[in-house]
Amino acid sequence: MSSALPRVRALRYVTPLREGGSLPALMEADDDGTYVVKFRGAGQGLKVLVAEVITSEIARVLDIPTPELVVVTLDEALTKYERDEEVQDLLKASVGTNLGSDFLPGSFGYDGSTPPTADLAARIVWLDAYTLNIDRTWANPNIVVWHGQPYAIDHGASLWFHHAWPGRAPNPGAFAARTVDLSEHVLADVAAPVARIAAGLLDRLSDETLSGIVDLVPEEWLEPTVETSDAARIRQHYVDHLTARRDAATEWMGSLP
Ligand SMILES: Nc1ncnc2c1ncn2[C@@H]1O[C@H](COP(=O)(O)OP(=O)(O)OP(=O)(O)O)[C@@H](O)[C@H]1O
Ligand SMILES: [Mg+2]
Repeated sequence: MSSALPRVRALRYVTPLREGGSLPALMEADDDGTYVVKFRGAGQGLKVLVAEVITSEIARVLDIPTPELVVVTLDEALTKYERDEEVQDLLKASVGTNLGSDFLPGSFGYDGSTPPTADLAARIVWLDAYTLNIDRTWANPNIVVWHGQPYAIDHGASLWFHHAWPGRAPNPGAFAARTVDLSEHVLADVAAPVARIAAGLLDRLSDETLSGIVDLVPEEWLEPTVETSDAARIRQHYVDHLTARRDAATEWMGSLP
């Protein structure tokens, strides 16, 4: 794994995405790529970008297809060309670094017509339990199908323990064994029993791998906790939560299909 996400510069705001509570938009960048951009200035704040990076990169390590991520720099100058007032406000609030997800053209939202294999479905269920992500239901599948292959997207709601950090000291033990109700999961019916695949997944999440993933988060997205603004310490809090939860997997896995 490389030690940083690729960095690109936004050239043009193409269009807002119709869905998407966080007002994501399509943007063209200076590497000729087109990206679904999640903005730092959207209401949800920087923590959802952090969760998106960490959980998506864990997915990748578990061989779950997920779009490539990049850091998209938005220059002040670009905000002036936008006529729509709401979009202009969002862009003005997002000057600096944002998160881009490689746009998969022609993909469509998961509708069950192209189900993943039972093994891949189980890995996605396991990922969601591990990262405390309940945001993959029929109401909001957060899977797109591209060239017949399901891709996991939208991981901003995972790792929600970090939302407590401005007020309370991070406490990995409080989340290590927490169970997650995934009975409404969009893949609940097609997934193999997770117990069958779990050992192979745990082996891939070594301490080194997890800290390498956390290192991918741009430093300026790491908001201070109640006790520190030191980026290395904040990264360590993420790693501590992820390793504690990995080590307690037998406890939280009991509640899974
Ligand atoms: N890389 C991508 N390629 C193609 N389409 C994408 C990609 N990423 C997201 N989309 C589309 O954009 C929609 C919104 O993206 P996403 O779910 O990540 O945003 P969100 O604001 O977090 O959404 P919500 O909060 O409504 O779930 C998705 O439902 C999907 O249709
Ligand atoms: Mg979504």
